[in-house]
Amino acid sequence: MATKMILDCDTGVDDTMAIMYAALHPDIELLGVGSVWGNVDVPTATRNTIHTLELVGAGHVPVAQGAAGPLLRTPNYFGYHVHGDDGQGNAYDHAPVGPAAPTTAAQQIVEIVRANPGEVWLVPVGPLTNIATALALAPELPELVAGVSIMGGAALAPGNTSPAAEANIAHDPEAAAAVFRAPWPIIMVGLDVTMKVLITPERRAVLDAGGPTAQYMSRIMQFYGEFFEKTTFGTWAATMHDTLAVAAAAGTLKIRSAPNVNVEVDCSGGPSRGATVCDMRGIYAGFPPQPGAHCQVLLDVDDSIADEVIELIARHQPA
Ligand code: RIB
Ligand code: CA
Repeated sequence: MATKMILDCDTGVDDTMAIMYAALHPDIELLGVGSVWGNVDVPTATRNTIHTLELVGAGHVPVAQGAAGPLLRTPNYFGYHVHGDDGQGNAYDHAPVGPAAPTTAAQQIVEIVRANPGEVWLVPVGPLTNIATALALAPELPELVAGVSIMGGAALAPGNTSPAAEANIAHDPEAAAAVFRAPWPIIMVGLDVTMKVLITPERRAVLDAGGPTAQYMSRIMQFYGEFFEKTTFGTWAATMHDTLAVAAAAGTLKIRSAPNVNVEVDCSGGPSRGATVCDMRGIYAGFPPQPGAHCQVLLDVDDSIADEVIELIARHQPA
């Protein structure tokens, strides 16, 4: 049976790939997508989300616009320097898109989950503002979902927006704290694994040789890969962060190490604000059970998922 899923995206470049993968994979049933501020402002995230779904022939999937900023305060920053002014590596094709659904991302989550009790995976791959808002609207959500697969955080790896914090958590630590605290099964797909599964130039060549959707994906990742070349790797490479959270929820990611540990989010005003404080003290003893733990923290995965994702997208031909 296909995995039912709701994505929640701040649609920049890696979110675009995650949406394509979720919409195209035959074992995933994408029931809805929410947009959220983060990489870009929320109207741009909404437009990019609808555009991506239309590209892959999934324009029927409802896209509901979500939060324009964090639960408290105003947006701390956007990621235009990473994803381009249009969130598509400054290579958006300016195609007009259809309308968003007449609801909010949080309300859409509540309605879809209530209609499919026990079946839906929430896959937030941007700031957790919409998920925290959905929880506030329907505190019973943790009993109704199959699980939550979050792209965000870092257990043993360094942060990316600060030495300690990963962007999706740092954007809205109070929302993230509420989400990690709620008693649902969580998979934390953080920088420990997402910085190690890369679209290399060789993998990108498979997209270049594919259909128009794959070629669009390759085009928009040029700027994004240049950002990583300049700031991180010293050579052109594109991370695929968000797709790994989709694959973890769908069971298509080969997971080698994922201890179930307690996780708290630092909501202080200090240098670790937005850090995911994962209780890794069991590392020397094979991670014995921790009372109350409900978060599997991915530490090691097989990077063959990158080839599977690229090939799926490369094969897609518009109807
Ligand atoms: O830190 C990486 C995450 O931040 C990814 O989800 C990326 O799209 C941005 O939202
Ligand atoms: Ca994202």
